[in-house]
Amino acid sequence: MNILITGSGGREHVLAWALSHSSPKPVIYALPGNPGIAELGTLLDGDAADPAVVLAAVREMRIDLVVIGPEAPLVAGVADALIEAGIRVFGPSAKAAEIEGSKVFSKDLMKRNGIPTAGFEIAATPEEALELVARVAYPHVLKADGLAAGKGALIVEDRQQATEAVAALMIEKRFGEAGRRVIFEEFMHGEEMSVFAVASGERYVLLPPSQDYKRALDGDRGLNTGGMGAYAPVVTWNDKLEERVRCDVIEPTLQAMAREGCPYTGLLYAGLMIQDGSPRVVEFNCRFGDPEAQVVLPILEGDLLELLWEASDPKAGRKALPVSVGHDGRTAVCVVLASGGYPGNVQTGYPIAGISKAREARGALVFHAGTATIEGRLVTQGGRVLSVVGLGDSLPAAHARAYKAIAAVEFNAAFYRRDIGWRGMEALEAKSR
Ligand code: AMP
Ligand code: GLY
Repeated sequence: MNILITGSGGREHVLAWALSHSSPKPVIYALPGNPGIAELGTLLDGDAADPAVVLAAVREMRIDLVVIGPEAPLVAGVADALIEAGIRVFGPSAKAAEIEGSKVFSKDLMKRNGIPTAGFEIAATPEEALELVARVAYPHVLKADGLAAGKGALIVEDRQQATEAVAALMIEKRFGEAGRRVIFEEFMHGEEMSVFAVASGERYVLLPPSQDYKRALDGDRGLNTGGMGAYAPVVTWNDKLEERVRCDVIEPTLQAMAREGCPYTGLLYAGLMIQDGSPRVVEFNCRFGDPEAQVVLPILEGDLLELLWEASDPKAGRKALPVSVGHDGRTAVCVVLASGGYPGNVQTGYPIAGISKAREARGALVFHAGTATIEGRLVTQGGRVLSVVGLGDSLPAAHARAYKAIAAVEFNAAFYRRDIGWRGMEALEAKSR
């Protein structure tokens, strides 16, 4: 089978890695991919958000299945163009991808269908926003409606900060048109976690839950980033919580999408806040999380390719998915090695050393994100450069392996968080007391 993965980050590298373990082994192409994916398959040039470019690649390489990595091409309708051309694709239509592409869409969907989430109001003009600033309780969360590369949510402590946030989003247009409308959201307390459902209409398979560490610095301080590390499965997860997540969140969401004329095929990512055993939705995403995918995919038991193939079958109807994947029992910890200055401006082009040594460490995997090969040398080319994953029979074992491996990698001004998985480690300590 020939597979095309679009995108170029750590998520796409781990997808290529996980799919390449299928039997029989598929032939992997990536558009545009990265130097890590080049070790597993063939890289193709071009803009993965341009449907014509993706279609041309599919025809030339006789691709059987396209797996779309990032959200922007999905929101732009790349999956629609492929489906129209009769090509099998794992990824939602543009209409279904609105679940991530527009917070107004997803909040309204949740409200209409009784799916638990933070209370909210929508401001369509700066005047409406300032009226809300004067009225809401603090802390409060202000969010740009559209895509903002994970940076469009601002937590504000008082009216002053809220006024500044309104100015940044709606007047200075820090996130462009994404900030045309702003959602004012009640602040939720609790423990955050991410859940992936491989969905095909109303049918789905739930993958092990993970926890992302989004802040740049240890102790969950500093700016929000795309994610500085993650671990899976989550220590505080249990069967009762899983039942709630299935019945209160995933199932009603997939049913509502189908009922409302935008059935969901692809990866439904639910960002959840758990308080006293009850889940509430922080956000939905229309693709695998990054770096959550780097910890969830390596601990799956079963054939991921078979699952994505079945899920993307347009003629499948309403039968249960004929394949499932489970959890192999291990824990994974991913630590992101980033360029100094991330999530702000970073210097790139620095040589990277030590990846082979890191991979020799027991239970270690290294995935590429912001890397490039220039004149035969591997160099940095972005904020999040590598994802280093440790696998083990327990969280402490996986944690130790990830940190041992990451110590072997070097480049100028590299930094990483030292406390990825701390919530899980604390929960384990509390249990053993
Ligand atoms: P989002 O862009 O919606 O994913 O939000 C980014 C991050 O901001 C989330 O991962 C949370 O850590 C935090 N956040 C967003 N909404 C809320 C909320 N209503 N209450 C508390 N924290 C939130
Ligand atoms: N790590 C958060 C995300 O992928 O949206």
